[in-house]
Amino acid sequence: MNNQAEFVKDLVTEHGTNRESLLPILQAVVEKDRFLSENAILKIAEETNIPAADVYGTASFYSFLDIVPRGKYVIRVCKTITCAMKGKNQILLALEDFLKIKLGDTTPDKLFTILETNCLGWCHKAPAMLVNDDVYTELTPNMVVDILSAYKAEADKE
Ligand code: FES
Repeated sequence: MNNQAEFVKDLVTEHGTNRESLLPILQAVVEKDRFLSENAILKIAEETNIPAADVYGTASFYSFLDIVPRGKYVIRVCKTITCAMKGKNQILLALEDFLKIKLGDTTPDKLFTILETNCLGWCHKAPAMLVNDDVYTELTPNMVVDILSAYKAEADKE
């Protein structure tokens, strides 16, 4: 049995096979692999006895459960109204310009992915974005360049 299969088996042992278990299992796989591969979905379906179509349906319903490979750092720019009014478009442009990719894309070195998300709950400090689990607020285009440069430097050290 490969690592992926064992990992899923352990998760199912830990969380159980009912439908409420599906979300924590999917989240744990995304945390480890950064996305849900077809193999992972099939393995989860097999271990939980939940039809693969239902597992896939749950995964694709939640925007934070990626079903395509993403970069090491997933950037999610808030697109909701306060951030939109406070300049999220300039933030997006600064990201696209710095990384030389478009919204929805991943850099060729697989380091960064740019996505949009709904309100992050930081409207009072808009515009806001997440880089993985870290939140950045009151953004300006210059700050975006500094933030991404720091992540690049961190990745270079590894
Ligand atoms: Fe962007 Fe709420 S609208 S954080």
